[in-house]
Amino acid sequence: MSLAGNRVLLIISGGIAAYKALELVRLLRGQGSGVTCVLTDNGSQFVTPLSLQALSESKVYTDLFSLTDESEMGHIQLSRSADLLVVAPATANILAKMAAGLADDLASTVLLATDKPVLVAPAMNVRMWLHPATQANITTLQQRGVRVVQPTEGAMACNEFGPGRLAEPPDILAAIEALLNPAPGPLSGRHALVTSGPTHEPIDPVRYIANRSSGRQGHAIAAALAELGARVTLVSGPVTIADPPDVTVRPVETARQMLDACRSALPADVAVFAAAVADWRVDHASATKIKKQPGAAPPALTLLPNPDILATIAAAGPDRPRLVIGFAAETDDLMANARAKLTRKNADWIVANDVSPETGIMGGAENVVHIVSAAGIEAWPRLTKNDVARRLARRIAEALA
Ligand code: C5P
Repeated sequence: MSLAGNRVLLIISGGIAAYKALELVRLLRGQGSGVTCVLTDNGSQFVTPLSLQALSESKVYTDLFSLTDESEMGHIQLSRSADLLVVAPATANILAKMAAGLADDLASTVLLATDKPVLVAPAMNVRMWLHPATQANITTLQQRGVRVVQPTEGAMACNEFGPGRLAEPPDILAAIEALLNPAPGPLSGRHALVTSGPTHEPIDPVRYIANRSSGRQGHAIAAALAELGARVTLVSGPVTIADPPDVTVRPVETARQMLDACRSALPADVAVFAAAVADWRVDHASATKIKKQPGAAPPALTLLPNPDILATIAAAGPDRPRLVIGFAAETDDLMANARAKLTRKNADWIVANDVSPETGIMGGAENVVHIVSAAGIEAWPRLTKNDVARRLARRIAEALA
């Protein structure tokens, strides 16, 4: 596979494995990719700017405050002029700085300023790698879409054994190629619309009606569809979880905003309605905070039904997605309700799940679902919400093939 025409910004932080960065530069140049190197102070203890410059055939950047560097290419431009940023080796320190958003040298500043994909190849002592702080930083970075080439296991320079060795340069190159030239997935060229999270229906400027949906299942479905190559629009109510990588997120608060955002995202090949939309909204939400009046009766709230987003988008018409999937979260009569919902809402499939409090599904990490369609009912085993999402995405790809 060729990387001709691509530009990689390679950040080399300090560590005994920094010598392998030289080999990575050579491999990237061999594939035709342009390589610009940024060397941290600690990195320059292990490899010299001169050797990197010779292999990359480009200027090597080291200093945040060098006036020549800023006039030739400021750090913002440096971070934006590449197709991909690669940190190899990535020390525990630079991973911590990335996770915390610190920018105290050129490498960390470039990483904070970039809007390009980032790949890290960690390398460090096994204890440092396994330390909860490092693991938490890696999780944070992954949630933000940073890709990780996992370190390998083996004997280390410090006479210990375990995970923490820098992945081999050909493996890092393969990860770079996969990011720059992704193989077309089974959903490439398809547009998927996903709703997720709760909606908030205002009572007044500070109070609202909501529900316990975390958005985990809907967000995982959006991520899984994107992994299979779909272009994904995720219309999300207010959630506290991170945006999935490679997905266009349209944040909304109320059901009516969610419907508007769904309509303007059409056309779509598939629509998955995983949001827990509030069934009712308050008629005439107060523009000012409703005051507690001593001795007065509490305010009476008049509720109006919200539009049914799934039923609206699933109604026959030129813009109806080919495949429309709804969810049925029920605490009783699960199957009967799911089947009724399939017909009533004109959906193609209903993903039915029991959300009785004892199942721990609402807000939890796992899910037990049944797929209800005109073809019948399919029971899936207890799976994590991520696995439910991946399995559903594969089924969607088969149905659209
Ligand atoms: O009617 P019920 O709320 O049980 O239906 C659940 C399904 O309908 C889910 O897929 C949910 O996202 C969708 N829904 C919707 N708009 C509503 C209510 C539910 O899209 N107002």
